[in-house]
Amino acid sequence: MSLLTTLSATEIPSDRLLLRKAHETDREGLVELLTDPEVRAYLGGPRPRDDVERYFDAVGIAGATGRPGSYVIADNPTNRLIGTLMLDRRSADRPGHITEDGEELELSYVLRRSAWGAGLAFEAATAALRAAAGELPDQPVLIVTQTANERSLKLAARLGFRRESTFEEFGAEQTLGTALLSSFTS
Ligand SMILES: CC(C)(COP(=O)(O)OP(=O)(O)OC[C@H]1O[C@@H](n2cnc3c(N)ncnc32)[C@H](O)[C@@H]1OP(=O)(O)O)[C@@H](O)C(=O)NCCC(=O)NCCS
Repeated sequence: MSLLTTLSATEIPSDRLLLRKAHETDREGLVELLTDPEVRAYLGGPRPRDDVERYFDAVGIAGATGRPGSYVIADNPTNRLIGTLMLDRRSADRPGHITEDGEELELSYVLRRSAWGAGLAFEAATAALRAAAGELPDQPVLIVTQTANERSLKLAARLGFRRESTFEEFGAEQTLGTALLSSFTS
């Protein structure tokens, strides 16, 4: 199996959550994630609502999770969107790598503000990493987050990611954390 793949599962359940692909009913939640100033504080700031609405009109809601490894995090049993999670490849032309070739697996996550503080990002990330460990050969996984983003750094540490280095991107200091995929084998 090629190392340059990501998760192929389209649904990943956990105790309180279901990672799944996006539905039309997720639109309001997806727009909120991109326009909420608190959620976007370390992600380049909120995007203008009109631009976001036009974007979803153009690509469709399904486009939000069209890529493999890209999921809506839904509350179980209401099926309501509480966030999104992506396990993708970090492009070699960006800074922040631990292998010579780059393209390592990279985990990212965003929760609606109302869902913070309940361990739900931890649960979603653990479920995705366990599923990936069951599907893919062992390899490093990265989390890159602004050094000022304390909640995200705490989450990365709780997941077992080790702080590797810092670097500049998007005009801010970023912290690179790494873990081995095999450490998430259940
Ligand atoms: C980063 C982010 C996902 C973290 O969310 P979070 O809810 O703080 O993360 P966790 O799921 O690890 O939850 C931890 C909190 O839940 C609490 N908690 C409650 N019940 C819990 C449970 N059953 N299990 C674990 N933690 C629990 C913990 O005590 C902790 O509380 P604290 O924040 O007061 O210390 C969230 O802040 C976010 O979406 N930020 C905006 C997007 C972003 O910046 N993403 C980073 C880019 S990669």
